Amino acid sequence: MKILVMNGPNLNLLGEREPSVYGDHSLAAINERLKECAEKNGAEIDFFQSNHEGALIDALHGARAKYNCIIFNAGAYTHYSYAIRDAIAAIKVPVIEVHMSNVHAREEFRHHSVISPVCKGTVAGFGEKSYMMALFYALNMD
Ligand code: DQA
Repeated sequence: MKILVMNGPNLNLLGEREPSVYGDHSLAAINERLKECAEKNGAEIDFFQSNHEGALIDALHGARAKYNCIIFNAGAYTHYSYAIRDAIAAIKVPVIEVHMSNVHAREEFRHHSVISPVCKGTVAGFGEKSYMMALFYALNMD
């Protein structure tokens, strides 16, 4: 089992970015916990973060035939990037959409995800544990 965890724009600032919304764990700390849990369960896990739409699309393309599952927090691109949606639809690797915050309880523009219809499922609202819940699914995939 090989898993890729992808994070989009502004998620490199986790820990200092709006801690009342996103908590005070850094992305490095979150990734470390995911790595520990994945490895304990015999899975390989890699990480990628970018603030650039094209780099995220390249990473999705590059995941073809390399990973069994992608855990993806696309940040604000979730709400309007048809290019990222098309890239997810173009690859066969299942993608789990992740959000730390409960996007449905926030501003109107966050209520809609253009990537949800092409993702396997969505986890939102559980802070850094949203990633853990997605990892649980990935580790238990058929
Ligand atoms: C987010 C929610 C998005 O609306 C926002 O733009 C983010 C983070 C989340 O993890 O809750 O950057 O994806």
